[in-house]
Amino acid sequence: MNGPLKVALLGCGTVGSAVLRLLQEQSDDLAARIGRPVEVAGVAVRRPQHHPDVPAELLTTDAHALVTRDDVDLVVEVIGGIEPARSLMLAAFEAGKSVVSANKALLAEDGVALHAAAAKSGVDLYYEAAVAGAIPILRPLRESLAGDQLSRIVGIVNGTTNYILSRMAETGAGFGEALAEATDLGYAEADPTADVDGFDAAAKAAILASLAFHTPVSAGDVHREGISTVTASDVARAAEIGCTVKLLAICERVSGSADADAPVDSVAVRVHPAMIPTSHPLASVGGAFNAVFVEAEAAGQLMFYGQGAGGEPTASAVLGDLVAVARNRVTGAAGQGPSGYADLTVRPMAETPTRYHVSLDVADKPGVLAAVAQEFAQHGVSISTVRQTGHGEAATLVLVTHSAPDAALSATIDALREMPAVRGVTSVLRVEGLS
Ligand code: HSE
Repeated sequence: MNGPLKVALLGCGTVGSAVLRLLQEQSDDLAARIGRPVEVAGVAVRRPQHHPDVPAELLTTDAHALVTRDDVDLVVEVIGGIEPARSLMLAAFEAGKSVVSANKALLAEDGVALHAAAAKSGVDLYYEAAVAGAIPILRPLRESLAGDQLSRIVGIVNGTTNYILSRMAETGAGFGEALAEATDLGYAEADPTADVDGFDAAAKAAILASLAFHTPVSAGDVHREGISTVTASDVARAAEIGCTVKLLAICERVSGSADADAPVDSVAVRVHPAMIPTSHPLASVGGAFNAVFVEAEAAGQLMFYGQGAGGEPTASAVLGDLVAVARNRVTGAAGQGPSGYADLTVRPMAETPTRYHVSLDVADKPGVLAAVAQEFAQHGVSISTVRQTGHGEAATLVLVTHSAPDAALSATIDALREMPAVRGVTSVLRVEGLS
C-alpha cells in the first residue's frame, strides 16, 4: 500500500468532530476499502481553545493555508454557510484537491459554478450529506437512477419541522407550543428561521431537482412556504379527511406549458406544508426523521428513509463520499459531475398544478353552496369533494379541489374571503397524493 492520503478538515462542530472520530476509529477498514490509508493533515477551526479533544498540532485557524498545503490531497468542508466556504472550496479545486461537503446552502446557491471549477481542475465535488443527512439519495439520483426518467420527488427533508408537525398531530398543540417543545428538546435551533420558514428544505429541494432533472435549479427558483401559519385547526381538518400535515419538498417534471405554441416540459420545485393521506408512505415518517419518495418511469416508486441530521448520521454520509473521492484519487480518476444538459425551464408556482383543501364557515341559507361553487367555477377550478356540516344558522363547508394552476386556486380563496355569505375561511392547505 502506498503512503497515506491526507485530509484537511474544515470545521469541527457536531458533524466535523464525528467525522474526525470515525476517521480514527475506522482507519484500518477505510484503508482497506480505499487502497491507501487516510490521515488527517489538519483541522481548521475559528477558536482552537474550544476543541481540547483535537490534538493541538492538527488545529489551525488558517483554513486557506491548510487547503492549499502541498501534502493535502482531499478536503472535507463542514463549516456551512456561503463564505468562507465558497472561497475555500474554490482554492481547494485550484490546488487540485477534491472536496467533500455537507453545505446545502452553498451547493443550492452556487452549485453550477462550483462543479465547473471542480471539473476544470479534474477533481471531485461530492455532497451526499447536504441533503437528508445519513440517507443515501444524491448518489442514487446521480448514479443508480441515471438510466431512468424521473417524474417526481417528494421529500420530508427537514427534521425540525417534521418533529413540530408530528407533535401537533399527536397532541393537538398549536405551532408555538410545539416549537417551544422542539426548542427545549434540542430539535430546533435557538433561531429556528431556516428550518421553520422552509429555507433549509428549499436548498435541499434545489439540489434534488438539479440532479433528478439534469437541470440547474438554485434555491431562488424554489417556491417556499414554511409551517408557522399551520394551525391546530389545519391539522384537525386534515385528520377528518384521513390526512396528515407534512412540510414537503416537491420536485416534479410538468408536461406542457401555459404557452400552447411551445408545449415543452418544465420543472416545478416547491416547499410548503400539505395534507397527505395517512396511507401515503411519507405519512408514517414521524418525529425528526427524513424520507424521500421518488417516482421514476421504469423503476416505479422508491422510498429512502432515515436520520436527516445529527453528528454521526451526517458523518456517515461524509465518510461515504470521502471513500468515493479517495478511491478516485487512488485510481487517478474523477467522477463525472452532475449534468445540466436538459436545461428545462423552471415553472413559476402560479402556473404549477396543485390541489387545495378549503374549510369555510358560511351562513346556512339557500343558495350559499351554489354561490361558493360558482366562485370556484369562475376561476376555472373544478371541485372534487364537498362536505357540509350544519349547526343552526351557520354551517361548515369543506371542499377539496381537483388540480388547477396554483394562481387560480389562490385567487379563488381571495374571492371567497370577500363573499358576504362566507363568515370565515378557517383552513386552506394544499393536498398531495389524494386519488
Ligand atoms: N436543520 C436540519 C433539520 C438539519 O432540521 O432537518 C440539517 O440540514
